[in-house]
This record gives sequence, structure tokens and C-alpha cells, in this order.
Amino acid sequence: MSKIEQNITADQDATSANNAKPAEGQKVFIKTFGCQMNVYDSERMSDALAKDGYTPTDTPEDADLVLLNTCHIREKAAEKVYSDLGRLNQMKKKRMDEGGSDLMVAVAGCVAQAEGEEIIKRSPVVNMVIGPATYHQLPDALGRARKGERVVETEFTEDDKFEHLPKAEKKQIRSRGVTAFLTVQEGCDKFCTFCVVPYTRGAEISRPVSQLLSEAQDLVDAGVREITLLGQNVNAWHGKGDDGREWGLGELLHRLSDMEGIERLRYTTSHPRDMDAALINAHRDLDKLMPYLHLPVQAGSDKILKAMNRRHTRDEYIKLIARIREGRPDLAISGDFIVGFPGETEDDFEDTLDLIRQVKYAQAYSFKYSPRPGTPGADFKDHVPEDVKADRLKRLQALLSEQQLEFAETCVGKDMDILLEKPGRKPGQLIGRSPWLQSVIIDAKDAKIGDTLRVRITKAAPYSLMADVI
Ligand code: 5AD
Ligand code: SF4
Repeated sequence: MSKIEQNITADQDATSANNAKPAEGQKVFIKTFGCQMNVYDSERMSDALAKDGYTPTDTPEDADLVLLNTCHIREKAAEKVYSDLGRLNQMKKKRMDEGGSDLMVAVAGCVAQAEGEEIIKRSPVVNMVIGPATYHQLPDALGRARKGERVVETEFTEDDKFEHLPKAEKKQIRSRGVTAFLTVQEGCDKFCTFCVVPYTRGAEISRPVSQLLSEAQDLVDAGVREITLLGQNVNAWHGKGDDGREWGLGELLHRLSDMEGIERLRYTTSHPRDMDAALINAHRDLDKLMPYLHLPVQAGSDKILKAMNRRHTRDEYIKLIARIREGRPDLAISGDFIVGFPGETEDDFEDTLDLIRQVKYAQAYSFKYSPRPGTPGADFKDHVPEDVKADRLKRLQALLSEQQLEFAETCVGKDMDILLEKPGRKPGQLIGRSPWLQSVIIDAKDAKIGDTLRVRITKAAPYSLMADVI
């Protein structure tokens, strides 16, 4: 679309001269950085933009609007955004020189929230900066940006953005597959001293039960078979249940488990302090709740846990896992680790390795500590040199990889149900997911995506399992 045509479209928006949607025929490319919450948010923004007339595209070259949904959790994440913006600037210039269509650029997510106005100053290509709390204002903000305003929307408002964000169409849900994310909780009140989330995502809010049940029903009606409940601190979710009682995540999982059509439930990310008895018992009582728990500990030394403001000891964490495993012995644990937090000595680090040996992780994510401006940790003394951090990360990852492979190998010869999610690389192959989140490759003639199949695992590779249909 030429620039002139685009301006006409924008004017139609302003005057409502006809019923055409403001961006009819335009294409949007969304790039998502960071966590699953951002994946969910990108889907909801895509739904909102679809109502505005935008259709999704897989390439920025093809797009009229590029939306970067950003992550601020570690340093490199923000750097990647700025380098993407540099590339988009070049692309826009080239397009204009060649007489092509205009390009609008929007920055959303946690970098948008944290940097706000600064992004507009640093990157001339950016038309709009929108923080996670204001996504329901996206169409309105875009309308203003189309008229030439450089928009910054980063206020935390009282509005329930989820109430205002449009629902996804059935065909959009279908196009996203048989597994789906559902954000139930946002923000965090824990204030771990390394973490920006309480500042970028704000205070904890829980979405109301009625909203969640209705969204879950829409997902199931469109063919979704597995739902992962999301929250920065998902097990802090609470709300008034449809039985009039106050519920926690355990009760919500019970209710969702009764919903016909849902076959599998998961939730992430949890804080050890918020694993209450109802949630622990849900692991024992609900077959649909998968035996896999992402329960970050970050470090294994009490001194570092205290400095991180995690508000639990290593022993409490180890005992908690033992308690959940009592009710669900096949529970696999996944974790997050930070090495080189300020003040971490070799002995503290050895404590982390020791904790890992005791817990035995099926899967884990590990990072070098990255000081985030505005967080207490950034001002702590005794920062650990980069080469020491790098060395510790290498040793930690070697141990975690060993455990991951060990876990995969224990699956060989086992029978399990897998949910088929997508086609495999070779003809006739399908890829499913084990209860423990592993990719399982099978040769299946009669099966189709969305089916749950009983299989026997024949081989373990580093990132996937091979299986025969039983
Ligand atoms: N430096 C390194 N890792 C971090 N994480 C959060 N903040 C930081 C930081 N400043 C890690 C934690 C968290 C995961 C999402 O990212 O391990 O659980
Ligand atoms: Fe960050 Fe800690 Fe909150 Fe997790 S619990 S989001 S690490 S502050």
C-alpha cells in the first residue's frame, strides 16, 4: 500500500467515513522475546490487531507494522531489541528510497515498560512504545501513531486489560495448535533482589475465575487439548470460586480438570513459598495435571538465597519437593539457576551443585547474574568477575546436562501417553509431547494432531525421544 493510500485509511479511521477497518489489508509481523507470558501477550495483541484489520505475516520485509514484544530480564535481551531496531531503521530507509510502502514500528513488553521515552529518543524508527499493562489501548494508540504522534503508553492503570482485549476467533486459536497458554496471574510482589519483574510487570493481579473459565472453554471448543496456566508467580493466583469460596491455584486446577475436552494441565512459573497444601494435593489427585513442575530455586546456599530475598532456605526447598513427590512419585522437576550473584563464593556455588545433585533435575535454565538497573542487587558489593561467572555457569550446565540425559534415558522402555502436536521432519512422522514435556517422535499412519496415543519409548537423544505406537 502506498503512503498516500495509507493516509487515506488513517483519515477514514478519524472520520468513520465508512465501515472499513482502520488497517484493512495491512500486515503485521510480531517478534516475541523472552518468556511464555510474552508469547501469550503477543497472541492477544495479534487478536486485537486482527479486529483492526491487520493480518499476520512471517517476515518483517512484508509487514506494514512490526511489533517487537520485548524482554528485560537480562542485559542481552534489551541489547537485542536495540540491534533489531537498528536493522528495522535500515529496512525502512531502503523501502522509502525505493518508493515502497511505509513501515510502522511498535515496541511492547518489558523493555518498553522499563525504558519508555528513552526508546523513542534512541531509535528514530519507533512510532510507539507500549507497556504490558496497557495492551488493551493498542488499537487506540496505533490510531494516534498513524496520524504522526510518537506514542508512549506505560502507565499502570486500574483497568482490567484482559476485560478489554478482544477474544480470539476460533480459527486463530486453531492455527496456534492443540496446546495453549492462558495467563491467570500477572506481576509479582516478591521482589527478589536480582529481578526487574516487580518493576516492569507491576504488582500481583489475579484474573477472575469467570474470565478464566470462559477463556478455557473457548480454547477447548476450538480444539485445544492442553492448557498451561501462566503467571510470573502463578501459584500466588487466588480468586473467588464459582462455589462462593476463596480459591487458590489448586482449586482452580480442580475446576479446570472437570472441564470436558481438557486432557492436560500445566502451570508455570511457581515460587516455592506459594506451594500451598491444595496445590501439592492437586499433584496427587488430578490425573490431568502433568507430573512436571517448574520450581526455580536460583541458588543452593542459604547465604545467597537470603541475599536474593527468596525467603526460604535450601532445606525448605528440598523438603517441599520431597513432599510433592510423596503424592506424585513420578514428578519431574525443572528449575532456574543464577550463578555469580554478588557475594557468591566458591563454597556457595558448591552448595548449588550439591542441591542439584540432591534434587535431580529433568530440565533447567541457568544464567550468569546480570545486574539490572533499579534492582537492589545491582547496588550490592562484591560483584563476581565475569570470568568466574562464566566458569561456574559451564560447570553448572555440565551437571544439569548430565541429569537431563539421565532423565531421558530412564524413559527408554517405558510406556506413556503422548499428545500429538505437529508433523515431524520426515514424511509420516509426528511429534508429540510426553507428560514430562519431552518431544517424542513417532511414525504414525493413522494418528492425527490432537490425538493422545500410548507409545513405548525406544531411544533417547539429547533433545527428543523416539517411540513406537503400542
Ligand atoms: N540475572 C540473571 N538471571 C536472571 N533471572 C532473573 N533476573 C536475572 C538477572 N538479573 C533469571 C531467574 C529467573 C529467570 C526467569 O531468569 O533465574 O527465574
Ligand atoms: Fe522475579 Fe522473584 Fe518475582 Fe520470580 S518471584 S518474578 S524471580 S521477583
